[in-house]
Amino acid sequence: MIPLAKPEIGAREEELVLEVLRSGRLSLGPMVERFEREFAAWLGVEDAVAVSSGTAALHLCVRALGWGRGDEVLTSPFSFVASANCLLYEGVRPVFCDVDPVTLNLDPAAAAAAIGERTVGILPVHIFGYPAAMPEFEAIAAEHGLGLLEDACESLGATDLEGRRVGARGNLATFGFYANKQLATGEGGMIVPSDPESAARLRSERNQGRAANMGWLDHDRLGFNYRLSDVAAALGVAQLEKLDAMLASRARLAVLYEHGLTAVKGVRAPVGGTGAEARSWFVYAVELPVGAERDQTIRQLAERGVASKAYLPCIPLFPHMRELGYGEGQFPVAEAASARSLALPFFPAMGESEVGRVCEALAESLS
Ligand SMILES: Cc1ncc(COP(=O)(O)O)c(C=O)c1O
Repeated sequence: MIPLAKPEIGAREEELVLEVLRSGRLSLGPMVERFEREFAAWLGVEDAVAVSSGTAALHLCVRALGWGRGDEVLTSPFSFVASANCLLYEGVRPVFCDVDPVTLNLDPAAAAAAIGERTVGILPVHIFGYPAAMPEFEAIAAEHGLGLLEDACESLGATDLEGRRVGARGNLATFGFYANKQLATGEGGMIVPSDPESAARLRSERNQGRAANMGWLDHDRLGFNYRLSDVAAALGVAQLEKLDAMLASRARLAVLYEHGLTAVKGVRAPVGGTGAEARSWFVYAVELPVGAERDQTIRQLAERGVASKAYLPCIPLFPHMRELGYGEGQFPVAEAASARSLALPFFPAMGESEVGRVCEALAESLS
């Protein structure tokens, strides 16, 4: 079976994990600081705060922005559920706005049209590694006095219209390092703070509400245990060293897929970028032709040794979001994308022949 995803774990990861194990510093040790420092340098930002997951990163950022009960934040219905759940954790209502049919990212015009009296912010998601329209969101936020939080969990390495790396525009931004991500630590996340004050608050809240100079049993605010372990940080440091090569492999595979899929009738390949925008390839999700039976296609691909997955569900249709009054028909572009998108196997070590096998299997399944 060709799997959907596979992390690139090698000798360097083993070496650095072993270094941590032998040091005896499994938590709050130097490896986390090293990961933060090297991640910030790679991204070209001043600072970065490591946390236990992308979801934890989002939650702390919602708090750092001061969003709370009674507030509304504009966000994308076509995303992984955590980008909306992080608002619910703090009693904030997610106000979904439809997405652009090509990039599948939150549509700035739809977001601007949804601004109301309770709107306090915008939470764009760089979905499938495609950079969201940040210059437009920044202009809308500045005009209406709104906060901005970038969910960059799927987009490490993407560059935006202005040629800047996603997450390096000065807004609070979050990254995630789940096992299928461009950089994988199993579980893990990173926050790019917007200034030194937010960095201090984030570091305190991830660590049970302790300021840097406080003892283990001292706390001066509500906090969480959202720390990243030093073992995970060791994986992160090793992964950073080869990140450029892994991103290049993913981009090369995307080109191979695009060529291979020209022979598969009716299937729409994802766009790599327009102008200076460049996707960081996370998953490779195609759009199946209208009328194709997706579940049957998934079964037939599996019979041919190819894993695939319906990706992503439309968030407002989950039961806990329906309780807020959402339902079918409100976000036609996102719902259509959810109904027809299919993720195919995609990981740096995938070979050209495997891409060929996937394309062939897809053509057979759809014929
Ligand atoms: C867009 C998006 N946001 C948030 C998350 C949450 O990250 P994690 O699984 O590390 O909590 C993920 C990934 O899983 C994601 O893809």
